[in-house]
Amino acid sequence: MINLIVAINKNNGIGMLNKIPWRLPSDLRYFKEITNSLGSNSVIMGRKTWDSLPFKPLPGRQNIVLTTNPTTIEKRVDTTVATSFEDLEDKIKEIDCTNNWVIGGEDIYKYFINKPVRNLYITRVHNDRECDAFFPDIPSHFELKSRSEIKKENGEYFHYEVLQDPNYFFKVMK
Ligand SMILES: NC(=O)c1ccc[n+]([C@@H]2O[C@H](COP(=O)([O-])OP(=O)(O)OC[C@H]3O[C@@H](n4cnc5c(N)ncnc54)[C@H](OP(=O)(O)O)[C@@H]3O)[C@@H](O)[C@H]2O)c1
Repeated sequence: MINLIVAINKNNGIGMLNKIPWRLPSDLRYFKEITNSLGSNSVIMGRKTWDSLPFKPLPGRQNIVLTTNPTTIEKRVDTTVATSFEDLEDKIKEIDCTNNWVIGGEDIYKYFINKPVRNLYITRVHNDRECDAFFPDIPSHFELKSRSEIKKENGEYFHYEVLQDPNYFFKVMK
């Protein structure tokens, strides 16, 4: 199953200068918990997001990194490189995890948002800080399944949402 997880601000901003422009430790814990769901898990990311990770690979999950230059990615345990979106789709099938988590950045989200995706796990961060990377518009077939209460940490207000495509399984069976 393909799922997508992201933290977005009020302008759909997700990053600035290859960093996430807010610090929410509880959101990082939420990300870790969700992407380590029951069964096997992969995390799918672009090379710039990979570069931005302070510790890599993300432990306990198969890391799949999209890049045109595989030699830039060190051969690490639990890490696979894909050199095109077609190759990425093949690698996801080969690795055959229960859950495949698309974790960014903009290039990767833009591609997957138009593919069958079961769940969108969205952290809505209530600021309008300047960003240079953005999340695409969310297609109208996604339905809101849950919304948390508003939380506050480090002076930031935020809440969690889960959106779901009710026709996901029908789409992947076709
Ligand atoms: N808020 C959040 O939840 C969140 C999550 C993740 C990331 N982010 C932020 O998003 C930003 C990074 O996003 P981004 O869009 O700049 O970069 P990205 O999507 O992480 O990575 C882009 C890279 O992916 C590779 N790529 C893209 N399309 C490809 C294709 N068709 N074939 C082969 N390789 C391909 C290229 O790598 P090569 O140049 O090596 O070829 C490209 O430079 C950062 O600011 C990061 O902090 C935010």
